[in-house]
Amino acid sequence: MANKNLTNAKRAQNDEFYTQYIDIQKEIEAYLEYDPDTFKGKVVYSNCDDPFESNFFRYFVLNFKRLGLKQLITTSYKPSPVANTQLKLFGDNKTLKPVKGRPKVTANKFIINEVGDVDGDGAFNLSDIAEQLKANKNNEWTPLKENGDFRSKECIDLLKQSDIAVTNPPFSLFREYVQQLFDYKKNFLIIGSINCISYKEVFQRIKKNEIWLGNGMGRWISGFIVPKSYDLYGTEARIDENGDRIVSTNSCLWLTNLDHGRRHQPLFLMTMADNKRFNRKILKKENSYKKYDNYDAIEIPYTDAIPSDYDGIMGVPITFLDKYNPEQFEILGQMVTTKIDEFNFGYPYVNGKKIYARILIKNKKATK
Ligand SMILES: C[S@@+](CC[C@H](N)C(=O)[O-])C[C@H]1O[C@@H](n2cnc3c(N)ncnc32)[C@H](O)[C@@H]1O
Repeated sequence: MANKNLTNAKRAQNDEFYTQYIDIQKEIEAYLEYDPDTFKGKVVYSNCDDPFESNFFRYFVLNFKRLGLKQLITTSYKPSPVANTQLKLFGDNKTLKPVKGRPKVTANKFIINEVGDVDGDGAFNLSDIAEQLKANKNNEWTPLKENGDFRSKECIDLLKQSDIAVTNPPFSLFREYVQQLFDYKKNFLIIGSINCISYKEVFQRIKKNEIWLGNGMGRWISGFIVPKSYDLYGTEARIDENGDRIVSTNSCLWLTNLDHGRRHQPLFLMTMADNKRFNRKILKKENSYKKYDNYDAIEIPYTDAIPSDYDGIMGVPITFLDKYNPEQFEILGQMVTTKIDEFNFGYPYVNGKKIYARILIKNKKATK
């Protein structure tokens, strides 16, 4: 069993978790609710996305007009194990020649400038795009010269032309991916794992309010599609009605610098005295509100136990970020791992006992 888990963990590192359409839709709708013009007139670039496979491509093509997009750019990655193998997108389109065996693997660039009902069936769908791409009218489908690596010059040039990068990048290159977005000063909406938060490259920007969480944590992303070669494991692994193999995880989240309503909602807080009287979870935790041995801050075991009347530094669980409102709180640092740097002060201890990872915050609106 232990061995099996290890193999699965290794496979998970393969970066082959594909995002479900419903999860993309649910997240993007939340930005539109806050500002219907979030994507209006924008060039969106999905730079880790095989258009034959990616639901990011699918979502943005199918919602191109509704979002008011100016352009959608998508590039695939040549070494990807699914490159050109799962021709779902054009699967129903009889006008395209069926591919015999495994097609020649190349990295492709798709540029969509226009969508519309061209096949005359009265509805716009992906077969219209296939049709338009085939005729190359206003839209472009060309092989890339390089391999489609998001760090390649060709892809960086496309990034420069774009406004918002939206994708689920390979987790193993997450640091580099984020750094590149900042090097080119791009807006973004990307999927990462909860562990990414503590990476210095990410955390320092969360602290400066240059990156924040999207609209949910935990089970907000309902699952990922995995390739056929992937062992379905875990109680929540399933095959859905489309035949897609889905694995669920509670450790992935959206990271963005696009504004949304959730981060402006204030967290309702009670005083410390009231928490001690009425918050039952607090009563069970003997370390609540105690000072850490190794940092001048108090321990808050649950986000809902943050006192309204404490103006000093507090250590809160990482899940606090899901409720973080920058008008209400300030982030000062983190206490995670033993790798200490200017943002991370090592694991917190209370009375010699190690506590879980914490984020250090201050309540800007503390009332005495
Ligand atoms: C986590 S998967 C997500 C795929 C797709 N974005 C989605 O959400 O369905 C990451 C993808 O990035 C591709 N990839 C891996 N390394 C890459 C690189 N250096 N540049 C561009 N894409 C890469 C992988 O082949 C894989 O398809």
